[in-house]
Amino acid sequence: MAGDDLVFSVNGEKFEVLSVNPSTTLLEFLRSNTPFKSVKLSCGEGGCGACIVILSKYDPVLDKVEEYSINSCLTLLCSINECSITTSEGLGNTEKGFHPIHKRFAGFHASQCGFCTPGMCISLYSALSNAHNSKNSHSSPEYLSASAAEKSIAGNLCRCTGYRPIADACKSFAADVDIEDLGLNSFWRKGESREEMLKKLPPYNPDKDLVTFPDFLKEKIKRQHNVLDQTRYHWSTPVSVAELQQILAITNPGGDRGLMKIVVGNTGTGYYKEEKQYGRYIDISHIPEMSMIKKDDRGIEIGAVVTISKVIDALMEESTSAYVFKKIGIHMEKVANHFIRNSGSIGGNLVMAQSKNFPSDITTLLLAADASVNMINAGRHEKLRMGEFLVSPPIINTKTVLLKVHIPIWATSSTTGLLFETYRAAPRPIGSALPYLNAAFLAVVSQDASSRGIMVDKCRLAFGSFGGYHSIRAREVEDFLTDKLLSRSVLYEAVRLLKGIIVPSIDTSYAEYKKSLAVGFLFDFLYPLIESCSWDLERKHVDGHVDPTISLPLLSSAQQVLESKEFHPVGEAVIKFGAELQASGEAVYVDDIPSLPNCLHGAFIYSTKPLARIKSVGFKGNVAPIGVLAVITYKDIPQVGHNIGYISMFGTGLLFADEVTICAGQIIALVVADTQKHANLAAKLAVVEYDLRNIETPVLSVEDAVKRSSLFEVPPEYYPEPVGDISKGMAEADRKIRSVELRLGSQYFFYMETQTALALPDEDNYIVVYSATQSPEYTQSVIATCLGIPDHSVRVITRRLGGGFGGKAIKSMPVATACALAAQKLQRPVRIYVNRKTDMIMAGGRHPMKITYSVGFTSDGKLTALELTLFIDAGIDVDVSPMLPQNIMNSLKKYDWGALSFDIKVCKTNLPSRTSLRAPGEVQGSYIAESIIENVASSLNMDVDVVRRINLHTYESLRKFYKQVAGEPDEYTLPLLWDKLEISADFKRRAESIKQFNLSNVWRKRGISRVPIIHQVMNRPTPGIVSILSDGSVVVEIAGIEMGQGLLTKVQQMVAYGLGLIKAEGSQDLLERIRLIQTDTLSIVQSSYTAGSTTSENCCEAVRLCCGILVERLKPTMNRILENARSVTWDTLIQEANAQSVDLSARTFYKPESSSSEYLNYGVGASEVEVDLVTGRTEIIRSDIIYDCGKSLNPAVDLGQIEGAFVQGIGFFMYEEYTTDENGLINEEGTWDYKIPTIDTIPKQFNVQILNSGHHKNRILSSKASGEPPLLVAASVHCATRSAIKEARKQYLSWNHNNGDRGDGSDPGFELPIPAIMPVVKQLCGLESVEKYLESKTSP
Ligand SMILES: Cc1cc2nc3c(=O)[nH]c(=O)nc-3n(C[C@H](O)[C@H](O)[C@H](O)COP(=O)(O)OP(=O)(O)OC[C@H]3O[C@@H](n4cnc5c(N)ncnc54)[C@H](O)[C@@H]3O)c2cc1C
Ligand code: FES
Ligand code: FES
Repeated sequence: MAGDDLVFSVNGEKFEVLSVNPSTTLLEFLRSNTPFKSVKLSCGEGGCGACIVILSKYDPVLDKVEEYSINSCLTLLCSINECSITTSEGLGNTEKGFHPIHKRFAGFHASQCGFCTPGMCISLYSALSNAHNSKNSHSSPEYLSASAAEKSIAGNLCRCTGYRPIADACKSFAADVDIEDLGLNSFWRKGESREEMLKKLPPYNPDKDLVTFPDFLKEKIKRQHNVLDQTRYHWSTPVSVAELQQILAITNPGGDRGLMKIVVGNTGTGYYKEEKQYGRYIDISHIPEMSMIKKDDRGIEIGAVVTISKVIDALMEESTSAYVFKKIGIHMEKVANHFIRNSGSIGGNLVMAQSKNFPSDITTLLLAADASVNMINAGRHEKLRMGEFLVSPPIINTKTVLLKVHIPIWATSSTTGLLFETYRAAPRPIGSALPYLNAAFLAVVSQDASSRGIMVDKCRLAFGSFGGYHSIRAREVEDFLTDKLLSRSVLYEAVRLLKGIIVPSIDTSYAEYKKSLAVGFLFDFLYPLIESCSWDLERKHVDGHVDPTISLPLLSSAQQVLESKEFHPVGEAVIKFGAELQASGEAVYVDDIPSLPNCLHGAFIYSTKPLARIKSVGFKGNVAPIGVLAVITYKDIPQVGHNIGYISMFGTGLLFADEVTICAGQIIALVVADTQKHANLAAKLAVVEYDLRNIETPVLSVEDAVKRSSLFEVPPEYYPEPVGDISKGMAEADRKIRSVELRLGSQYFFYMETQTALALPDEDNYIVVYSATQSPEYTQSVIATCLGIPDHSVRVITRRLGGGFGGKAIKSMPVATACALAAQKLQRPVRIYVNRKTDMIMAGGRHPMKITYSVGFTSDGKLTALELTLFIDAGIDVDVSPMLPQNIMNSLKKYDWGALSFDIKVCKTNLPSRTSLRAPGEVQGSYIAESIIENVASSLNMDVDVVRRINLHTYESLRKFYKQVAGEPDEYTLPLLWDKLEISADFKRRAESIKQFNLSNVWRKRGISRVPIIHQVMNRPTPGIVSILSDGSVVVEIAGIEMGQGLLTKVQQMVAYGLGLIKAEGSQDLLERIRLIQTDTLSIVQSSYTAGSTTSENCCEAVRLCCGILVERLKPTMNRILENARSVTWDTLIQEANAQSVDLSARTFYKPESSSSEYLNYGVGASEVEVDLVTGRTEIIRSDIIYDCGKSLNPAVDLGQIEGAFVQGIGFFMYEEYTTDENGLINEEGTWDYKIPTIDTIPKQFNVQILNSGHHKNRILSSKASGEPPLLVAASVHCATRSAIKEARKQYLSWNHNNGDRGDGSDPGFELPIPAIMPVVKQLCGLESVEKYLESKTSP
């Protein structure tokens, strides 16, 4: 019998898909076959939340709808048959009105580039709907707790905002939030009463605002359940184990599954990316025997297809015998993120762990709890205990099916105690990160009658994810501990044994760290029993080491911003232009532009060798993969064109490698195929043959580059000038530290939207390219040069970017150019949306560097001289690297070094080319200064905060170091900021109380640090066009590109201000009537690039000048009307001006005065950090920032910039590990291993104050920049961590000393590497701290 069609609904609209490739994901379908583009592709592996949607399922028997969030990038389309999907535009949109979630996101200024925003809205919606539908608690919609609201976005990444405003928008829906704690928003003003504030929030009514299941689908399901036609869809949906067995037996008689794939949530493909094409998918999630959860007095039985979320719910249900279950449930809440847990099954997890070495948490938990599994193969049932299951031959490709899991109830007698504890050390405390190691321990203990100590009667100690094949039990340690009276020496011996058991495989990174974690966790489990001689179900952890999720405090923030009405509406915290559109997902990014039917897609083949001759480019098996139409290389560049991929002010670079590849990651070819999926797959299957004969050794280090004189020239005007007389400075020093070496690594942009372009060939060799670029004008020139056509034949259009951070200034150009070349050659539209891994490889990122310095200072901490040698690794291309020396020095000069000299070399290496990443060079320069200051303070044994203060510039020394850029004396606000922060952050008192804290805590140490910054920026020439249309509405074109920094909003405000000066009736309220349009290189010429933090103000000035012209042109008409009337409305004025043929369009080109185009920005930040000595985890307890914004053009936008930049800086200093292989290719591939900050890793308390420093005559309406400088302040987090580690080392050395170490007990000093990730911190605190502690406690 023929089966049914695939039917589902999206946002209430019916979709019937008559045939589809079964590997098609929901995301692919939504983005290519529906108008709903709010689902964004950012990682494609379940790790970012940009693609999530609400899935609703209707149960006709119970007449009930179940609703939860899922990711759409891994969910297969066929698995949503008969379901209803809701995307962010389904919650609300321009046509039907925005949802309260959208409105509150906009009003709390919670979206910047907006690429993450629809996903964030769906996460919050899911939490609200859960709260509403929860039957377990007495929840009503108002009872969404603030903590649940905050946690709801734990799985979503945002690279722009720093999360604080998003958390505020979410918490505004919580019942237990103190509304006064919520941050700056556009709903109320400070000082209003709570009632007023509540009234002003866009109302939320669950009866109206929660989506309903479409009636048509309900009726259809009630009539008859759909079973997809197996033949047409290659998709089977068995409804019993017997049927499943039949399918498995028939489809492939061999022992393996052949081209069949069993699926449940399909989330496994997020980790194990599929290349294989399957002939059939078997969706086992509809089999009732495998979906049940049964509890009895022996334990709990869970079907293999039950989702992790449902397992957690079942385990967490109240019951006295559920102690172990509850602990497992709590731990499982940290597995993946909410949307993966909602679709991923427990069985899928176990099979991945058993068969593919997946570092599972769940197997460790089940191993400790002595769980067992049931399997079936060809009708033969088998039951195995978890330990046996894990070591049995892999079942993944066999016909064995995992049916269910059983976890026993652990009972105790009246004389024994049951202890069960689980552990997890991961870069993110509440999930969304695989652990470095996990553990689960079960022990039955009793009291020894004679000694009153604790006896171990039985124990199960499981460890996982440490780089072994699978989770294991430490049986030797278990045997050793069993029947032992616990004591420090017994524990010491157990720890020693354990270290021999936790043996990570040879290629595991941080192997020693992982061992030390295992030791630390066992210590934490047993030591409190030894200390207290008792047990308690709500047992304590060792002093200070706490479960980060249990202790997770709520984020809180305070902002002080001054709004000003002087230039209304400039200076006011106006809502971001298009914010609601971004929240609903209707805002159009390049990849959202609908494809024409004949559109092709491209993917890059890149080099994996640093220097090699390319012999050939082909595919595995010499067969072009499915869908491939062309492979474009340098040979396809027209004869009249050039092999050029980018232009910067310092030179150009290649688009494609020609005969020789000159760095790993270099583009060799573009595969063009019918779909992006096919293009990506083909690029993956590409085979490049290299020939290394007669090729010289590549330059792979800066040292080698210097030795071989492989250097980029820095034009003299870009090379910084030394300051003062270095020999004299050194001679004045009482103390010197000589030849200290520092190394700084790279950072990846992690914009949520990867590089993308769409090229449309037109008549007469003319081409339109939509490019996500920060540099449309340069992109236009590069495309024209490459194709050998005039610039006027290339129209580059850019509306907005999903984040740029400098990564789309230069690196976007080759993408757009390759796209244009392919389109021109094939005479068909071509689009490229680079996948995350390739983007990471090609992006290059921040400049790594090696620094060697010698510093001279007096014995009271005054600096007298600094001498530096800097080798900057620029990679293979010049890009913008010659700018780096100046940028580094400009921020390093924030202290009065006395005299400063340096030798800076910009090295050309055969490594991926580095480019500008938010505050390029400045962040390194500022950090280098701090590192030196720390070293000076350490060597003098002085408080580093005092050393910093002593060496802050006076205005005179500022002039000496910065010359005229220093501005007027009253513009130098840094000392003022320094003092203000001391009071607002309560710095001195907290520093004292930290000393006390450190004395009284063994396993936690804290540090606090205050850091100043100076950041130099420059205004640049820029054009603007303002036109008034006949109905009085206004259209504005600017050169600047909106990428989340609020540029359009500021410009909109400026136009409203500028035109408002005509003072016609209604001209003061023009804001809503102003539209900013996309940048189009054939309309706004000389658009240059958006970078360096000043584009917003430059564009503002350009349009202000336009408005001035228009106002002057309008004045005669106005005066004429006023001769006969007392007033005139804006609309009448414009009508009249039109009638009189007044030119209502003005273009200007703003050229800053060269004498005042450069200026300094100031800020100070203080951070307090706590370090957990058991795991090396750091927690930012509080950060305070004061930043001088001049007169902020829009305080909400500037606040967002400050917070976002600071958090991106935290990523650089603390979390984002960027490692490379021996060829220079980045090892990290995406969200699994590149960990940008998340809501749980930002400061728990975050106070930002914008100093309104008043009138600055040379600045644009007295404003200053905010985009990049605050990133530098994040060094305060790193320095505070260093300070906490110092305390930990002091303690460690004292234990050593107690143990008879003959050293003098003093710390030889240390450098804290960047990023200060957990293994690094733990290593500096002592990998053997537990052993040393126990030794110190046991030694006589
Ligand atoms: C972003 C992300 C983060 C994650 N983080 C964690 C984490 O922190 N800790 C952790 O432990 N796990 C983590 N996981 C793993 C996650 O738990 C699994 O991906 C999920 O449980 C797999 O379930 P599924 O239903 O989607 O399996 P699927 O992807 O559908 O299947 C996985 C594999 O198992 C096979 N299979 C599935 N069920 C059966 C069965 N009953 N019998 C035989 N074969 C079967 C399938 O054929 C397939 O090969 C993470 C996953 C993602 C995507
Ligand atoms: S794109 Fe789906 S989770 Fe990132
Ligand atoms: S606003 Fe979140 S990624 Fe840009």
